[in-house]
Amino acid sequence: MITLDLTLPDTRYPIHIGRGLLDQVELLLPHLPIPKVAIVTNTVVAPLYLVRLQKKLAEHDVEVTPIILPDGEDHKTPGNTESHFRRTAAWSLRTKNYADCPRGGVIGDMTGFAAACYQRGAPFIQIPTTLLAQVDSSVGGKTAINHPLGKNMIGAFYQPKVVIADTELLATLPTRELSAGLAEVIKYGLLGDASFLSWLEEHMEALLAQDPDALQYAIRRSCEMKANIVQQDEKESGIRALLNLGHTFGHAIETGLGYGAWLHGEAVAAGMVLAAAASAAMGWITADDVLRVETLISRAGLPIKSPDLGVAQWLELMGHDKKVESGTIRYVLLKALGHAIIQPGLPKSVMTKLLTGRHIIATEQSARQS
Ligand SMILES: NC(=O)c1ccc[n+]([C@@H]2O[C@H](COP(=O)([O-])OP(=O)(O)OC[C@H]3O[C@@H](n4cnc5c(N)ncnc54)[C@H](O)[C@@H]3O)[C@@H](O)[C@H]2O)c1
Repeated sequence: MITLDLTLPDTRYPIHIGRGLLDQVELLLPHLPIPKVAIVTNTVVAPLYLVRLQKKLAEHDVEVTPIILPDGEDHKTPGNTESHFRRTAAWSLRTKNYADCPRGGVIGDMTGFAAACYQRGAPFIQIPTTLLAQVDSSVGGKTAINHPLGKNMIGAFYQPKVVIADTELLATLPTRELSAGLAEVIKYGLLGDASFLSWLEEHMEALLAQDPDALQYAIRRSCEMKANIVQQDEKESGIRALLNLGHTFGHAIETGLGYGAWLHGEAVAAGMVLAAAASAAMGWITADDVLRVETLISRAGLPIKSPDLGVAQWLELMGHDKKVESGTIRYVLLKALGHAIIQPGLPKSVMTKLLTGRHIIATEQSARQS
């Protein structure tokens, strides 16, 4: 097991990464001052892991109340959060208690948000069960629910007490979900670590085959990079926005197609290709660099071409993004592979090219050459 520490001005918490950690409840017990816990999960993960965790906690006389929510991004709604509150209130009226959640990013974001609001803050623990949640959403304290006008539109910064990432739980994850998680892993290489990007190019097959060492290294490096950025900028007033690489375009895809049509990681993957193409159009990276990005994303089993939403809808959806400041969209682009920057606004000609699908510079060039 590897343990990373995330240290912030008001709190500090461990991120444990390793195999078989779900059974090591001693990692969790120090964070439960009273022996009573709500386990929030969903209808897919509950049959796989709920009883196992419940039994382990029962061995230590911890009373468990399961809260099992429906599965999927389209359930990350105010309505389901309300149902969450009702069940939590019925269970622990007037007592601040723990929401402990073996789950993917959807339940984690929603439970974190509910925990932030419930009685002005109930402590919670993250037990991520998807690759995406282990490398990204469970770390750093961003919690949110969706709104018809925008993805993750309603939310709070609220840190967990501990993150327990058991890589063994990924064995039951569908391949498409594993690929979606790899999108966020690739994001870290692109935004801040060129040598990690090269490592990913060398180990993509091993990651897809869930080689335990490769997985553990990819999760560790991703969490290290995220923790490092969050420690410098917890509330996203600066450098943390770099973690949104691919997300301005990606959120527009998710909202435009309807939540759940594309997985979050798939939308981010196609969004990163657009960000790379925009960076090439700005003259910062080469067509070969864009091809390198496309090739790696494609090898991870992810889409490289965005859906055709129409320029007007693209711009409207991106205009609702949280990353808009004083009417200007703040794009995360690449000065080089492994070096992301924030770019306020893009020339109209670049946007039109990008959003009408004429952006696949590398693919077009290779086609011309062949
Ligand atoms: N808070 C953040 O910083 C942050 C960062 C990135 C993404 N997110 C959010 O995370 C969400 C996506 O998370 P996700 O990709 O984990 O999706 P998810 O939570 O929907 O999980 C994906 C699917 O896998 C199933 N599943 C989960 N664990 C499983 C397991 N071990 N075995 C079998 N099936 C399993 C789930 O039930 C679901 O059907 C999005 O809502 C996104 O906005 C948040």
